[in-house]
Amino acid sequence: PQNAALAGLRVVITAGPTREPIDPVRYISNHSSGKMGYALAAAARRAGAEVTLVSGPVNLAAPAAVQVRPVVTAADMLAQASAAVDEGCDIFIATAAVADYRPASCADQKIKKSAEDMALALVRNPDTLATIAGRENAPFTVGFAAETTDVAHYANDKMQRKKLNMIVANDVSRPGLGFNSDDNAVTVFWPGGQQEFATESKAGLAERLVALISERFRQA
Ligand code: PMT
Repeated sequence: PQNAALAGLRVVITAGPTREPIDPVRYISNHSSGKMGYALAAAARRAGAEVTLVSGPVNLAAPAAVQVRPVVTAADMLAQASAAVDEGCDIFIATAAVADYRPASCADQKIKKSAEDMALALVRNPDTLATIAGRENAPFTVGFAAETTDVAHYANDKMQRKKLNMIVANDVSRPGLGFNSDDNAVTVFWPGGQQEFATESKAGLAERLVALISERFRQA
């Protein structure tokens, strides 16, 4: 560890996209690369925390001395994140871009091309962050919000609805930021306060976010 901001604390972080299968060869997903979550995991580790990273499918190496639990679907993410929190968790950070919906059923065989049009029935996925924040004795929970309009309004609304201690809002409509980029710019909200972080590398931003999270955690 390079500093002791999170020394002795257990941190669980979700990262990356989920994949929701349509048939054996197809899925629904999104452009999350996992970079933001992996950068936070590395920064939390450098701050002395014991870190578990629940990660959807990404092309990133595990950060040094971080335990990675790979998952594929939103249902897996909920199961693995819940198990990790059960083992002990002081701070839970959800950076994953979880698919909100999954196909109502996954076809056993590859779906054949036939009619000109086809429709896919979708059902809601479980919300890992809301489930963990809603637990009795919930850890200190930090959500992310990927928005394209009214960022502050939707982020504050999510924080209240999901009962979060903090929310990190990124405007994913800004080119070069957010999904699958190396840089990000965010505004962090907590009940009664907010702080803006200008564009910088996800690694640099992760260091600052860990410092702010540790400060808010100690005041909670
Ligand atoms: O992975 P990168 O390429 O580095 O990109 C980073 C990022 C843009 C994905 C990241 O910074 C980010 O904004 N992550 C949240 C993306 C998102 O899907 O936000 P949301 O507004 O849909 O979800 C709100 C919060 O609830 C998030 O903390 C999310 O992890 C959580 N959630 C959402 C749905 C669900 N079923 N389960 C969840 O836990």
